[in-house]
Amino acid sequence: MTQAPPPRAFSKMRVLVITGAGVSAESGIPTFRGKDGYWRNFDPTKLATPEAFAHDPNLVWDWYRERRQRIRTAQPNPAHRAIANLAERAREFLLVTQNVDDLHRRAGLPSEKIVQIHGDIFITHCSRCDFKRHEHDDDSLPKCPECGALMRPGVVWFGEQLDLAKISIVENFVTADDCDLVIVAGTTALFGYITDWALRARGRTGQLIEVNPEETSLSQFATKSFREPAGVALPRLVHELLSNVSA
Ligand code: OAD
Repeated sequence: MTQAPPPRAFSKMRVLVITGAGVSAESGIPTFRGKDGYWRNFDPTKLATPEAFAHDPNLVWDWYRERRQRIRTAQPNPAHRAIANLAERAREFLLVTQNVDDLHRRAGLPSEKIVQIHGDIFITHCSRCDFKRHEHDDDSLPKCPECGALMRPGVVWFGEQLDLAKISIVENFVTADDCDLVIVAGTTALFGYITDWALRARGRTGQLIEVNPEETSLSQFATKSFREPAGVALPRLVHELLSNVSA
């Protein structure tokens, strides 16, 4: 009888991690669709679309300023730190996060290993030209110093295209080689590209681990699901992986 090969040492693994709002929930940042999530109380079409911004830029900016402030006072939680720890030890690593906060970076994950596929809430960019800056808030509606048009938050709104340069980074990582391990944590995985990247990246033999207290459309494909908060499951999982115990 042939024996299963021993688990690959973690330092030789190629790893993709995909995160969503659930990973920042334990830092006190609301999710979108969960209990007390933003989309339970607010209408996304009034806050997160180009039409909403054209109609009432003050309302949209007020909401983003409030969110920026909440994020500034929040701290990374054990899930962010566990992912940063994993990244440091893996042979190759990429994080694709749908989160626009900066908590993965503040937990120590280097920027070049992060793709913020839905943008960065701390970037302000021109709604007409390419000008952008990383800035603190002022009270009035910011105007572009290059062309005078209104500046907007650097996030992807409903109905907008993802940034092609960011798609390329993820595609290059996913197509270069199969991953030994794909972890999807804290997301409802509603967007087709998220599920697609997770499934393609794991190839035929990689593990797909989901961390989410709730079942999602990705659960049926997972080799393992942890129905726990990310701040509980991820530190334990990473500890096991780094101790070279198969997870
Ligand atoms: P959602 O709010 O849709 O989903 C959050 C997920 O996190 C849910 O599946 C929860 O079960 C799970 N969750 C809650 N608490 C958790 C915890 N402590 N640990 C682990 N999981 C937990 O957020 P996303 O899936 O990130 O896009 O949403 C995707 C996108 O939809 C967002 O980036 C945003 C939103 O509309 C745009 O604004 C373009």
